[in-house]
Amino acid sequence: MHYFTVGPSQLYPIVPRVIKKALSDGITSVSHRDEVYITLQKELVHNLKSLLTIPKSYSIFFLSSGTEAMERIIQNTVTSHSHHLVNGSFSDRFYQTALELGKSPTKTEVTIGESFDWNSLHIPSNTELLCATHNETSTGVMIPLNKLYQLKMNNPNLLIALDTVSSMPYADVDFSKIDMTFFSVQKGFGMPAGLGVIIVSPQALKYSSGSYHSFNSLKQYADKNQTPETPNVLGIHVLNEVVKDMLKEGITSIRHDIETKSDLIAAFVKSSQSYTFLAQDPLVRSKTIHVLKTRGGSSSLIRRLVKKGFLVSSGYSSMKNDYIRIATFPSHELKMVKKLLQHL
Ligand SMILES: Cc1ncc(COP(=O)(O)O)c(C=O)c1O
Repeated sequence: MHYFTVGPSQLYPIVPRVIKKALSDGITSVSHRDEVYITLQKELVHNLKSLLTIPKSYSIFFLSSGTEAMERIIQNTVTSHSHHLVNGSFSDRFYQTALELGKSPTKTEVTIGESFDWNSLHIPSNTELLCATHNETSTGVMIPLNKLYQLKMNNPNLLIALDTVSSMPYADVDFSKIDMTFFSVQKGFGMPAGLGVIIVSPQALKYSSGSYHSFNSLKQYADKNQTPETPNVLGIHVLNEVVKDMLKEGITSIRHDIETKSDLIAAFVKSSQSYTFLAQDPLVRSKTIHVLKTRGGSSSLIRRLVKKGFLVSSGYSSMKNDYIRIATFPSHELKMVKKLLQHL
């Protein structure tokens, strides 16, 4: 089966081999206080910083998921007021997390499939943290990062958190202007789920609240290339191997390849009578998640594709029956995208 699902998705090509070898090498039994583990975490942090051009002064922490990152960000940095740019279910999840933690969040919400009117965007003056979702996996809308950079430049004391769960490593983030960026590994890194990564600025690290995953605790251990708890050592090992492989290919080439695949899908939809994009405006349309309205409904189409060996995601939540979602991550081969489009 070829998994064009939006996550978990197609495994990155080296992953089955790396896991098999890790099992025979006993990686899963390595203690997280052992020198072997300390060297592994040190190497992974170094490799992630090289791949994504993360400043030396930023810290990288390992969590369990993207959802956990949302909770930890609010818990650590917000006393009362976070403001959320909500354009779909995952940005709304971030907002709900703040509510559930007893904060008083506000939001700017736009119609599904649309992006924000940046000129009229109002952020309340008491906002401590602005939360944005780079790539809304539910709608296939990608927000322009330069608009967030502008906000940071105009409000240097405002912390900004960015969800790049379904856009990393395509997301070319200028980390000097974003305080907390997070992703999980089951999408663009083509790995089994169960590992979240958060990249934190020195400015955000002035804040800390909570227990073992307070920023103070995470930083205290990260400085020793360790984690407070027993981490997902296998995931950390596999991510290091995937990142090393991506470094060999080069991030420019990886990003270009994603754009090529995405452009193919866009050209197909443009010439098709049966499919239209939920995100009408090509300027805010995602390059990694393509949300298409299908004539005749999604479920029979998905069943037909499965018989051909391709799995795509259905639309999210209320869009389940009318939409499909197709991912273009680094693990998706161009020739398989072409084959999928033939079947569509
Ligand atoms: C944009 C976005 N944010 C957050 C999440 C949650 O990530 P996780 O499933 O790793 O908790 C997802 C998962 O699909 C997502 O697409």
